[in-house]
Amino acid sequence: MEQHQVDLVQRSFARAAKVAPHVAATFYRELFALDPSLRAIFKGNMLAQGEKLMTMLAQIVDGLHEPDTFLLAVRELAVRHVSYGVEAHHYDLVGVALLRTLRHELGAEFTSETRAAWVEAYNVLASVMCEAAYERPAHRLTT
Ligand code: HEM
Repeated sequence: MEQHQVDLVQRSFARAAKVAPHVAATFYRELFALDPSLRAIFKGNMLAQGEKLMTMLAQIVDGLHEPDTFLLAVRELAVRHVSYGVEAHHYDLVGVALLRTLRHELGAEFTSETRAAWVEAYNVLASVMCEAAYERPAHRLTT
């Protein structure tokens, strides 16, 4: 990713992370609206789950300029996700839910340029995870 795109993702995430629990709740609402059957694979407390998701996303976003720092952790995360019942096509739904959440939370600040930077970042993340877990890349989100 270009530095300019990394900056856009980091700046917009920093804004959203100020209200992390709210963002996480919006994210799961968007995700379950896309596919209500996904509720069943989340067994734990959703507040705690939202916190884990936001913490992990913060680490990934922080390390975007130097992806080597998080690749191993993310591959392991992807392999754990197989045992949670996650399938490769779910990564597309999560990507769409994430983009909708950011648009919802950031409003006009979620410009088309910022959106494109997130699409790029998510595609990198989802393909690394899907290659690690399913030996094939995720379906790519488009700008
Ligand atoms: C795209 C990047 C993703 C990130 C950064 C992420 C992050 C996390 C984290 C940090 C956990 C806590 C457990 C652990 O560390 O193993 C978790 C659990 C989980 N994630 Fe993800 N996840 C991602 C993608 C997905 C996708 C595509 C799905 C499919 C719907 C999904 C569904 C779940 C489920 C079902 C759990 C277990 C929840 C429970 O125990 O109740 N995640 N995720």
